[in-house]
Order: sequence, then C-alpha cells, then structure tokens
Amino acid sequence: MCLSAQRHLCSWFKSLLVVAIGGIVEIAPLFYLQNTIEKVEGMRPYTPLELEGRNIYVREGCYVCHSQMIRPFRDEVERYGHYSLAAESMYDHPFQWGSKRTGPDLARVGDRYSNEWHVQHLTDPRSVVPESVMPAYGFLANAKLEYDNIAAHLATNTIVGVPYTQDEIDNAIEDLKAQADPEADTDGLFARYGENVKVADFDGNPNELTEMDALVAYLQMLGTLVDFSTYEAEANYR
Ligand code: HEC
Repeated sequence: MCLSAQRHLCSWFKSLLVVAIGGIVEIAPLFYLQNTIEKVEGMRPYTPLELEGRNIYVREGCYVCHSQMIRPFRDEVERYGHYSLAAESMYDHPFQWGSKRTGPDLARVGDRYSNEWHVQHLTDPRSVVPESVMPAYGFLANAKLEYDNIAAHLATNTIVGVPYTQDEIDNAIEDLKAQADPEADTDGLFARYGENVKVADFDGNPNELTEMDALVAYLQMLGTLVDFSTYEAEANYR
C-alpha cells in the first residue's frame, strides 16, 4: 500500500480513481442507449427567422421561468404532450432544458395558440391570463429586427455541428424575410427547410420585420418538428 511520505498523494489518487469510475459508469451508457443517440425523422436546423427568435428568447432570459424539457412522467405527458426526445435538442446551442418552472414548460408550445394570442400575451400577459406573473415584452413589437449578421450565426452554428449547408448560409437573409411575409416567394425556403415551415406575418404588422416576428416564429415551431403519430420509440425504451 502507500508509503507514509506519499500518503497524501496516494489518497488523492484513490479518490480520483473512485470518482472517475463512478463517472464512467454513469455517463458511458448514454453513448449507447438508443434513446439518447437516435436520429429522429422531422428534425431540422432552425430557419434563420426561428434562430433569430431563439436568440431573443435567450437574450430576454425566458429560460429563467420556462423549461423546454418534458420528463417521461404521466402528469407531464398529460399536460404537455409526448416526453422530450434527446434528438429534439440536438441543434440547440445552448440547450434550453431548464431546471425551474415559474411558467409552464414550452417544449411543445408550438401550434397550441394563434400568432395573435402570442402577440397579445407577450404584450400584456394579464390581458389573457389574469393571474399571470409573467413580465410584459410589448417593446419587442417596436424593436426592428437586426438580421445583418444572421448568415454568420448560421455559419457559427456549423462549428458546433449544426449541419447548415453553404446554400442555407448564402440565402439566410432571403429565407428570413420570406418566412415573415405571406406574399413572398417561399420555394427556396421550403426547399431548404421543408414544406412544414410556418410562413406568416407573425406580429400582425406587415410594415416592419420586428423582434416580435422572430420570437413568435420560434415559439410556434417548438415541439412541432417530430410527428408523434408516426414516431416509434426504440425497443429498448418501450
Ligand atoms: C418571471 C417569470 C417569467 C418570465 C421571465 C417569462 N415568463 Fe412566460 N410565463 C410565465 C408564467 C407564470 C406563465 C403562465 C401564465 C401565463 O400564461 O401568462 C407564462 C406563460 C407563458 C406562455 C404560455 C404557455 C402555455 O402553455 O400556456 C408562453 C408562450 C410564454 N410564457 C413565453 C415566454 C417568453 C417567450 C418569455 C421571454 C420573452 C417568457 N415567457 C418569460 C412566467 C414567465
């Protein structure tokens, strides 16, 4: 065993060994469990407008009160829908799982309300939910969306593994504008991100592209990419 002169070093090493083994036992299976590594049909990177909305969501600290992770418990699944899959956060940098819910989980809030409801709720939460403690974000409707650097945002995401193509990066501004304009030519947008991309004048103000447009576009896609009527969990998780 340890010589007395080396006793400190030796016990330090033993602790390290125990912690390392414990860590490996906990973490290593995650690399093999189907549920944590499977690719799921329907997942795609965010459109440029959704990515702008996501940046605003992070900037405004919405995650302080809202999680985006539905746990596989009956009460959560009944309230929010199918439990979150690891693949549904695969393009999130940083992820928005969260550990605190002052407000409800938002992982599947997409399509639950109309665009008008979101604008009204963000502008004056208590006008639609009288007991709400959520702050008002009406200023977003007056804040012009700054999107000059959106191509760089897409390019930066590729560094951490989001598979944006050069075509998507080159057309980022065009796609961003097309998604917020129901009159626009959306062929390119749909070809790059799929036919399910929601196109709308999200903030109801056709004269200006605002931060409200981007945030609502982001909220409306949350949790809608995977079609759970056709999704089948891998056998080892059923
Ligand atoms: C101080 C905590 C707090 C912050 C910060 C906050 N919210 Fe909320 N949010 C709430 C609460 C509480 C509710 C439930 C009452 C209500 O609907 O207003 C809620 C509800 C919501 C809902 C409706 C969810 C549902 O399923 O009914 C949405 C959407 C939402 N918040 C989005 C946001 C966004 C986007 C931001 C950031 C711009 C944000 N919230 C910031 C507390 C917060």
